[in-house]
Amino acid sequence: MENTEQLQKELTAEIVAASDMKALEDLRVAILGKKGRITEMMKGLGAMPAEERKEAGKTLNILKVEVEKALEARKQFLEVQELNAKLAAEKIDVTLPVRPENQGRIHPVSKIYEEVTAIFGEMGFSVAEGPDIEDQFHNFNALNMPANHPARQMQDTFYIPNPDSADKDDSFVVRTHTSPVQIRTMEKQQPPIRIIAPGRTYRSDYDATHTPMFHQVEGLVIGKDITMAHLKGCLYDFVKAFFELDEIPVRYRPSFFPFTEPSAEMDIGCLKTKTELKIGAGTDWLEILGCGMVHPNVLRAGGIDPDVYQGFAFGVGLDRLAMLKYGIPDLRTFFESDIRWLKHYGFVPLDISSMTGGLSNNGGAAR
Ligand code: DAH
Repeated sequence: MENTEQLQKELTAEIVAASDMKALEDLRVAILGKKGRITEMMKGLGAMPAEERKEAGKTLNILKVEVEKALEARKQFLEVQELNAKLAAEKIDVTLPVRPENQGRIHPVSKIYEEVTAIFGEMGFSVAEGPDIEDQFHNFNALNMPANHPARQMQDTFYIPNPDSADKDDSFVVRTHTSPVQIRTMEKQQPPIRIIAPGRTYRSDYDATHTPMFHQVEGLVIGKDITMAHLKGCLYDFVKAFFELDEIPVRYRPSFFPFTEPSAEMDIGCLKTKTELKIGAGTDWLEILGCGMVHPNVLRAGGIDPDVYQGFAFGVGLDRLAMLKYGIPDLRTFFESDIRWLKHYGFVPLDISSMTGGLSNNGGAAR
């Protein structure tokens, strides 16, 4: 039999010299395949005298194991090398700026979400959430709108059947406003409460200023000594920050909402001409939000003692804010997913809204 030590050296040298996976595989077949060198030697064992065969068999097995080890080691080495070569070849330079025509845009509603959150965040509000599919208790009853209350009719509600009950009062709704988050927050937390709840809302309505799905932000502040003066100060600061103006005329008109008493609507001063709407100056008024002092029945429904605590609440249409601030005339276009529209009205993703860095104007709209 051949000198196996010498052979092992030769084969190992050949294996280490295999420069790619294909060469290595060819080599493996040439050594260990059906007609491979070691396979042939193994076949030759049969012709040997029994005594010699035992020794030679052992030696050959050791050789085979060593060669297999060398093949495996080379295979792993080549695999790593191939992976590295692939990674190097497919390397992307992430420091390159995005081509302007390929850059995505932030939707104006998302931008307004961020702006509103930044403003109220600065005032110490946190963000609360509730489900889009609500029960009537949270959407109506707990907000002082019992069954048959006329205000329910005004809301053009979408009802969702309850699989467990045929009773209409048990059917679910897609929330008609973000006000149910007031109740959900009170259920979870005793005062002091200071939250905003931005989110989707739904009503059966469709024209240039109404879409079946739209967005609102709810605000709720509850404490021991909260008064209407806090409400006025808070909302005044909000509209100034939001419209990025140092001064802005505001007025409150008495209004009615079942869940607040007293209730008001807030208007901001503006100038309306045939072609333009200028916010912050002029002799015209623009309704901007609804607000009021939380009704004692609402506090009670949320598990809060109205003899100890009181608070204020407000609700604002986010889409309407976006239309006003960014001069977008038709609400329906918000939800048409037209990429040209988004390019025109959208925002650069890295312009993060903040009270210190600027809400909308650090780089500003893509326009
Ligand atoms: N939920 C009202 C709506 O959708 C808006 C609203 C008005 C919310 C007054 C309030 C509020 O919290 O105090 O029309």
